[in-house]
Amino acid sequence: MANVHFIGAGQMAEAIIRASLAAGTLRAEEISLEDIDPNRIALLTERYGLAAEPLREDALHEAALVVLGIRPQDDLASVAARIRPHLSAGATVVSLIAGVTLQKLETLLGTGIPVARVIPNTLTDTGFGYSGVTLNAQATSEQVESFLTGFGKVLYLPERLIDIFTGFGVAGPNYIYYFIESFTDAGVLAGLSRAQATEVVLENLLGSVEMLRLSQKHPRQLLDINNSPAGVGIHGLYELNNSDFAAGLQRSVLAAVKRTRELGETE
Ligand SMILES: NC(=O)c1ccc[n+]([C@@H]2O[C@H](COP(=O)([O-])OP(=O)(O)OC[C@H]3O[C@@H](n4cnc5c(N)ncnc54)[C@H](OP(=O)(O)O)[C@@H]3O)[C@@H](O)[C@H]2O)c1
Repeated sequence: MANVHFIGAGQMAEAIIRASLAAGTLRAEEISLEDIDPNRIALLTERYGLAAEPLREDALHEAALVVLGIRPQDDLASVAARIRPHLSAGATVVSLIAGVTLQKLETLLGTGIPVARVIPNTLTDTGFGYSGVTLNAQATSEQVESFLTGFGKVLYLPERLIDIFTGFGVAGPNYIYYFIESFTDAGVLAGLSRAQATEVVLENLLGSVEMLRLSQKHPRQLLDINNSPAGVGIHGLYELNNSDFAAGLQRSVLAAVKRTRELGETE
């Protein structure tokens, strides 16, 4: 993996650096940083044993990947104008900036530059979780994939599906955390201690995922196997069927997708 230069060394950049170093897809000497806050650079340089700050232009010029980790409200136009003359031929710009389209990035960076728009997942430290990636005509998966797999799995998508992916996939852990909390509360309500209920819920969750993977069955087939006539399981499911569980979850995802689109339109 060649050098990676981060512009905007905030929370997301740090999460990616931490995960990539742990996964071994990046070495500390391959990483350079810039941020308008010098304290932030000093902090990350020390925390992750990065090379002392090289000249900004040198680091840019030597980078195979330039990662834009600034926020949608930051001054992207100035950043793009500044970096454009220093990008080496074939360097790929990887934008993490929510809501900023490939077309806007190409307009600001100039045509002919490989650009990948990435919506990183928030499970970076685990290696699980998909990042959504859309590439412009100049970018290829070979240019970005070994970097991206350092902080999760990679799902290439046409740009029109990126907002849907954000509301469904990137927001995904929220739905799961909420489910875990609700399910644990049910155990406590029924009389288990919180510690016991939490352990049972986590094991059930991991085991159910593994059952689906191993058996290659649809969830409905496993539900059928688990629920004998007039048994415990089907009585529990009857109440769940009577609730707003499925539609409520689906409305939540659609609301998150809608909000992603609204935020994109304001950029
Ligand atoms: N966090 C997530 O879970 C997540 C998930 C998906 C996508 N994203 C996207 O990732 C991007 C970064 O998010 P974040 O949570 O990491 O934000 P963040 O922690 O606020 O990081 C942004 C950093 O960029 C710096 N910065 C601003 N303007 C700059 C400039 N012109 N040159 C150099 N540095 C500059 C900021 O410095 P100051 O703080 O001093 O202004 C800050 O340190 C955002 O576009 C966000 O939409 C985040």
